[in-house]
Amino acid sequence: MASTSALLVKQELKDEIAEILKGLSLNDPASKTNEEASDESSSMYGSSRFDEMGNFKFGKKAPKYIGKCFLQIGEVTQHNIAQLKEINKQVLPVVYNERFYNEVMNAGEFAKLAYFNDSVVGAVCCRPEVKENRKRLYIMMIGTLAPYRRYGVGTMLISHVLALCEKDTNIESVYLHVQSSNEAAMEFYKKFGFEVVDNVKNYYKRIEPNDAYLLEKAVNNGTKSAKKENTGNCVDFE
Ligand SMILES: CC(C)(COP(=O)(O)OP(=O)(O)OC[C@H]1O[C@@H](n2cnc3c(N)ncnc32)[C@H](O)[C@@H]1OP(=O)(O)O)[C@@H](O)C(=O)NCCC(=O)NCCS
Repeated sequence: MASTSALLVKQELKDEIAEILKGLSLNDPASKTNEEASDESSSMYGSSRFDEMGNFKFGKKAPKYIGKCFLQIGEVTQHNIAQLKEINKQVLPVVYNERFYNEVMNAGEFAKLAYFNDSVVGAVCCRPEVKENRKRLYIMMIGTLAPYRRYGVGTMLISHVLALCEKDTNIESVYLHVQSSNEAAMEFYKKFGFEVVDNVKNYYKRIEPNDAYLLEKAVNNGTKSAKKENTGNCVDFE
């Protein structure tokens, strides 16, 4: 029979191992933290996904193999605009001109880079528009470098966009174009409540298929109103 002191040592060892596994994020996947549980169940996006330090709440999406990691949103400036250009080159088939980058550099909260620890791995660029007395937010681009996909980077970027809508309650909806063949993007946007509101034939000039879906999500109790006749377009910047 084991002595009391041997049992105590065994328990201490168990606690120590549990602590190490916790640090490495390797604990039993069946035992979810509150954060993980809420990540799966809720429709919490927008500002509620960022902590007081501006870190994105990864939830269950945190990569398990490298221990603690941070996802954050960062400014676009003249010093890192080249990184945004590189992200666009890597993730999108459309090439943007200098006019696009000049707009983005002055866009403040409407253009952001996604940092995975210290590396830029994604970006979002959007702009507010007022047409027919309705204020909408147009997402010009959103993208994550391929090796970093499905870890929540896109969720962080769209959460940032939705957080901007929380701040400006005059914004009635958010809309964007997606190339008709882009199934990943369609799934991504659907997850956040975007719906197809129009089909734009021959939208793109230089890529095939050249059709786009127009997707829109109502925010701030607004209504969806985007259609091909009344929406801006990112092809202006090709
Ligand atoms: C669309 C895109 C931005 C998503 O970025 P991401 O960092 O992988 O996004 P997330 O990890 O936050 O994914 C959130 C959810 O979107 C959905 N989703 C994302 N990629 C998907 C895919 N390839 N297939 C099915 N669903 C997908 C899933 O529901 C996912 O949640 P899950 O991983 O828990 O299942 C990314 O695939 C991308 O950069 N694509 C190329 C550029 C592009 O098409 N941009 C959109 C047009 S502007």
